[in-house]
Amino acid sequence: MRRKLVVGNWKMHGSHAANAELLAAVIGARPYGCDLAVCVPYPYLTETAASLAGSDVRWGAQDCSAHEQGAYTGEVSAAMLREFGCRYAIVGHSERRAYHAESDLLVAQKAQAALATGITPIVCVGETLAQREAGETDLVVKRQLAAVIHLLAHCAGEIVVAYEPVWAIGTGRTATPEQAQAVHAVLRAQLQAATGHGERMRILYGGSVKADNAATLFAQADIDGGLIGGASLKAADFIAIARAAG
Ligand code: 13P
Repeated sequence: MRRKLVVGNWKMHGSHAANAELLAAVIGARPYGCDLAVCVPYPYLTETAASLAGSDVRWGAQDCSAHEQGAYTGEVSAAMLREFGCRYAIVGHSERRAYHAESDLLVAQKAQAALATGITPIVCVGETLAQREAGETDLVVKRQLAAVIHLLAHCAGEIVVAYEPVWAIGTGRTATPEQAQAVHAVLRAQLQAATGHGERMRILYGGSVKADNAATLFAQADIDGGLIGGASLKAADFIAIARAAG
């Protein structure tokens, strides 16, 4: 039985005051029946770690460099994140693929850099609306995941995968539970074939997950939790989504 994982992706939102209030509420509503984490902007890592200390709520980053160290202005290495106690790093989010031209190979290298320091990469895959309408969904997500599997080889079993259809992110247009489940099943089969233990790997769904649709999504056989954007910024909504996960 896979334990569900719910991860908040704050994206570029937050302030000292808002973070403190949000994290206090999330901690105050424990215990949860799922694993819970928040992925926050870099400047807030320290205060998030301090706020969550002593709780079982984990935290992570929204990206990491593919490089170990060196002359890469503006980049943050996985080793630096790990020094703070970082547990997760989102890699390959569609916003980074689209706005920062991240390739499948770069995403795979970031996943590798994270794993090398003991950080679990949350590898995002997902198709655009045009790709879905062209019937290319399976092809696209399998290609994105294959790049990671190929580079990580036997370590690929250590990642978390997040299926985030681009057309569902921040649009209020959620994939139906059936649409999401169908893609998750494809991804799990790919993970199983590559690693031999796809059955125990977690595949999260992301894209307009809200308090009122989380339970039906999480009830699908291959949906092991969620990667939550907008709704993770509102304590009541994030807590309700975590409750829906178990
Ligand atoms: P929304 O939940 O705001 O649609 O964002 C999803 C997402 O991109 C999480 O990484």
